[in-house]
Amino acid sequence: MSKASATGGEGGADTVGGSRIVAIGSHVPEKVLTNADLEQMVDTTDEWIVSHTGIRERHIASDGEATSDLSIAAARRALEKCDIDPQQIGLVIVATVTPDEPFPATASFVQHALGLQRCAAFDVINGCTGFIYGLALASSLIRTRQEQYVLVIAAETLSKITDWQDRSTCVLFGDGAGAAVVGPAEPGTGILAVEWSTNGSAAHLLNLPAGGSRRPITHELIDQRQHYIKMQGHEVFKLAVRGIPEISLGALHKAGLTPQDVDLLVMHQANQRIIDAAAKRFDLPPEKVAVNVDRYGNTSAASIPIALAEAEQQGRLKPGDIVLMVGFGAGFSLGAAVVEW
Ligand code: ACO
Repeated sequence: MSKASATGGEGGADTVGGSRIVAIGSHVPEKVLTNADLEQMVDTTDEWIVSHTGIRERHIASDGEATSDLSIAAARRALEKCDIDPQQIGLVIVATVTPDEPFPATASFVQHALGLQRCAAFDVINGCTGFIYGLALASSLIRTRQEQYVLVIAAETLSKITDWQDRSTCVLFGDGAGAAVVGPAEPGTGILAVEWSTNGSAAHLLNLPAGGSRRPITHELIDQRQHYIKMQGHEVFKLAVRGIPEISLGALHKAGLTPQDVDLLVMHQANQRIIDAAAKRFDLPPEKVAVNVDRYGNTSAASIPIALAEAEQQGRLKPGDIVLMVGFGAGFSLGAAVVEW
């Protein structure tokens, strides 16, 4: 009997079925930007970046390489790993804050490139929690609408909206994509519980000021560099450290589990110090914590599925393992998912 069914997970009598991650894949651009490279670009040091964030290098998309390109590559990897007919995919969700164009949805480009017929497609804009929110939607739709399979992609080319003159943000971000094929499962298995919350009063802490309906792009706004990411990092840090335990315990409780049941913690990879604080709070040893922020930086929505795909590739996920995924970011949003692998 699985840990979840032994303790009574979300998939009880009130649910019509279950859902699970059938396969996971990821893709990052070829080009690597190291801390030493950044030392040549802004007033920073490898020592400051490593001690404050844990980041050593990140992957950066080339000119002309768009979010859908990374999405398509990650999706193909996930699809190669499962023996479903891609035409069984009824929905493509792309979680991103860096769409190819403000509209149409980047998911439309992905659907077309993958040759998916009879399939809907839309984007979710929610910063670093985007993958968790996409997973929650996929899971619900499979349970209630009987969608067969949903492709949940989280992909970012943050380098395109990063101010490469602003040392407080440009050292943090990287580009990449992760993709999950989500499909039906027995109740009480697979995706056991998802919790989410948003604190809109803190939305101003992390944003892209220009280019929307509030401040349409003008030459003046571009001169003021308002078309780049702005973040009050220290405030975001504090909200993250405070919010992660509550959202995580909420999801675990919903699944009938506790931190002691967690076999792998896959946090949003923003900062090694935030990951360490969560691991300490839940008393999880390093072998139960996925970390790749040192090699990819903060890839926003993409960071959780990239870390998950890497953990699977490294043989760190066995059937029946309980995985706790936790995201936090723009909004200010939080999300946690408990999944039985
Ligand atoms: N190199 C050298 N010095 C720097 C750099 C840099 N790259 N960046 C900032 N500093 C300086 C600052 O100017 C400041 O100097 P001062 O004290 O003379 O004013 C000093 O370092 C400390 O700055 P803080 O911002 O207080 O540094 P902190 O320890 O908070 O670390 C960081 C900053 C890494 C951004 C941290 O706050 C953080 O990780 N925040 C969370 C970010 C995050 O998780 N975002 C998630 C969502 S992202 C998304 O949704 C897309």
